[in-house]
Amino acid sequence: MAKGTAPEGIPVRKLYTGAEMPAIGLGTFGSDKYSAAQVAEAVYGAVRSGYRLIDCASVYQNEKEIGKAFAKLFSDGIVDREELFITGKVWNDMHGDGQVIRSCRKSLEELGLSYLDLYLIHWPFPNYHAPGCGGDSRNPDSRPFSAKEYMGVWRQCEELVESGLVKHIGMSNMTVKKLEAVLPLCRIRPAAIEMELHPAFQQPELFRYVTERGIVPIGFCPIGSPSRPERDRTPEDVAAAELPEIRKAAEAHQVHPAVICLKWAVQRGQVPIPFSVKESQYVDNLRGILEDPLTEEEMEQIRLADKNCRLVKGQVFLWPGAEDWRLLWDEEP
Ligand SMILES: NC(=O)c1ccc[n+]([C@@H]2O[C@H](COP(=O)([O-])OP(=O)(O)OC[C@H]3O[C@@H](n4cnc5c(N)ncnc54)[C@H](OP(=O)(O)O)[C@@H]3O)[C@@H](O)[C@H]2O)c1
Repeated sequence: MAKGTAPEGIPVRKLYTGAEMPAIGLGTFGSDKYSAAQVAEAVYGAVRSGYRLIDCASVYQNEKEIGKAFAKLFSDGIVDREELFITGKVWNDMHGDGQVIRSCRKSLEELGLSYLDLYLIHWPFPNYHAPGCGGDSRNPDSRPFSAKEYMGVWRQCEELVESGLVKHIGMSNMTVKKLEAVLPLCRIRPAAIEMELHPAFQQPELFRYVTERGIVPIGFCPIGSPSRPERDRTPEDVAAAELPEIRKAAEAHQVHPAVICLKWAVQRGQVPIPFSVKESQYVDNLRGILEDPLTEEEMEQIRLADKNCRLVKGQVFLWPGAEDWRLLWDEEP
């Protein structure tokens, strides 16, 4: 296969540093359903198909296998390192002094890279749980958000930029209230912020807040995460891909509703990172954002279809005595 398969057609977003980030990427969280080897194979196939942005995280427990896929992509001459935009994330159990830098170094070693393009604080709390635990489990050491503690983590991220191990730093699972508290304290501003974004959960206020400040919003669960683990499901959840407005557009454009969710995301201005290990899906997802855009009317209908339905509620990160997941998001229970 020729080097750089059609990536020149993929739109890009400019970060405030002037660097470019592809307007769509591939997620790598296997949702406890797909093995590390399957995810790594998808990374290889997706890059060969034209993807250039890969969203990784240490907690996904597959960086070693993804590292082998990167090595093969480089040795097979499909891409050079500089053509990829690779994101990593520090997990909640590595927020202590020196731990962020250690965690980043471990990710780099496992991924077989000398730098990451973007490194995110995965969650704004040091609260963690055993991988795969049930939705009701609680860690007695969990505590509410503290701007002071968070800035201790951010300072280490800033050191990572200064030492050249990462090019940009960013945040994830934030709220406007938390950003108001920490942004004035940052020496190095976040270049991107990852947040849940799909047609049933559009977060207009947070979206506007970050874009007005020149921060690129990255949208996770862009299809509404139909394969998410049981612990992240509640009876009230709305499936983004089943909204009538999405189904109607899917019929009009003769594509799967998932592809409509991605067209909407890219046209709105966020960077979606859909996950798939299935070649036909990840190829369709990429092609879907390159051709046959949604009309202004379809975009408006989807905007009005927002259900304010958060899927990743984070209830396992609640602290003792806190019952309602809305507290994690600075909302009234
Ligand atoms: N920062 C954070 O806290 C955070 C949180 C969650 C996720 N993320 C990131 O965001 C990524 C994406 O989120 P996600 O994996 O939860 O959800 P998602 O991308 O919304 O949904 C992925 C699922 O959608 C289905 N799908 C994908 N393309 C399709 C197509 N063309 N047609 C039909 N179905 C299609 C697949 O289901 P089947 O496999 O059943 O076919 C796939 O497993 C993650 O992988 C991860 O990298 C970050």
